[in-house]
Amino acid sequence: MTHYSDWQYEIYEAGLHGAPPLWPVDEPGLRKLAEQKLSPEAWAYTAGNAASGSTTRANAAAYGRVRLVPHVLSAPVPRDHTTMILGTKLPTPVILAPIGVMKLIHSEGEVGAARGAAALGMGFIHSTASTTSMEEVAEATPDNPRWYQMYIPRDEKLAVSFIQRAEKSGYQAIVITLDTTTRAWRPLDLNLGHLPFLHGNGIANYLADPVFRASLAVSPEKDMGAVIKRWREVSADPTISWEKIQWVRKQTKLPIILKGILNPDDARQAVKIGVDGIVVSNHGGRQLDGAIATLDALPAIVEAVDGKITVLFDSGIRCGADAIKALALGAQAVLLGRPWVWGLAVGGEKGVTHALKCFLADFDVSLGLTGHRRPSELSLADVTTIK
Ligand code: FNR
Repeated sequence: MTHYSDWQYEIYEAGLHGAPPLWPVDEPGLRKLAEQKLSPEAWAYTAGNAASGSTTRANAAAYGRVRLVPHVLSAPVPRDHTTMILGTKLPTPVILAPIGVMKLIHSEGEVGAARGAAALGMGFIHSTASTTSMEEVAEATPDNPRWYQMYIPRDEKLAVSFIQRAEKSGYQAIVITLDTTTRAWRPLDLNLGHLPFLHGNGIANYLADPVFRASLAVSPEKDMGAVIKRWREVSADPTISWEKIQWVRKQTKLPIILKGILNPDDARQAVKIGVDGIVVSNHGGRQLDGAIATLDALPAIVEAVDGKITVLFDSGIRCGADAIKALALGAQAVLLGRPWVWGLAVGGEKGVTHALKCFLADFDVSLGLTGHRRPSELSLADVTTIK
């Protein structure tokens, strides 16, 4: 049984010997250091949000309104975070959110990120928009829990190929992201006129795909411009519908999780068409500007789903208490986003492990101080919402 909170004593003991931590232990500190390390383009891509940034601010404000109401003298140790989600055994209900284009952040890219997670056995979701193929990540972390995040391409044969490759390389679920059928208006990127994909960053899963390669007139090595043109034609399908999700459902026996649900009606529809789970997400405020904060959306969605499918959650989680609040409001696990990216930026694989360890230690302390031994014990009784 893991006592993540004990890691703080490693830090204090090293401090006794004159060795304070190499990197900040808090998200704001890591973020600041990441900003100093990253190129303007890399910083804009990772830190940037949609339009006015109001969704991102709403996420942060919602965590502020929900407050924890602890029970004292009720949390026996050792704590146990073990969680089973759709057949995937996880050491803790914190999973790395799918985040693409990671070689822009650090030369180790998604392999560094996946290895950083694997050092703690944490679940990792590999993004379609990666700078490393899903096979390379699978080879680098063969025993770690892994899911594949798919942006459904226009070409059905390519979608089937993505799914089959994910199955073959041991991914345990398919996460379909639904909130990015159209790229948001992202001022930080736009002000630099920089979109990584047009520079060939974030298309490794396509370059490694036999169906995609067969659709090219010449090999990618000979004409990158033609590759990017083809990528633009097939990579996103703004016309996808619930019928397309039903079609994907028929292509695989792996669990299917829909990411980007904010509306209880959509959650009910997800239940109706037979997917296995949803992620309540607003893409960290990077897609619909003005969207509802995920923490505000969560209770009605949990009610709509009524325990019939798994409810996961992300957007704006920055500290352990944020995750505790989402779990108390009914999420079964949370996806951690930018905090691990800052870890990658400052120290590659080791930086990711550092960021994750700090997050988990804080999460574990908060779980104990709220009065619980297991994350699954959290409930509405642990929170109150300030009007
Ligand atoms: C993302 N996110 C994302 N989601 C997804 O399904 N596929 C992807 O390729 C990406 N790529 C991506 C890149 C960057 C730079 C960021 C910051 C985010 C969204 C991600 O999975 C998650 O929903 C958000 O990161 C959660 O918000 P916070 O906590 O990072 O603010």
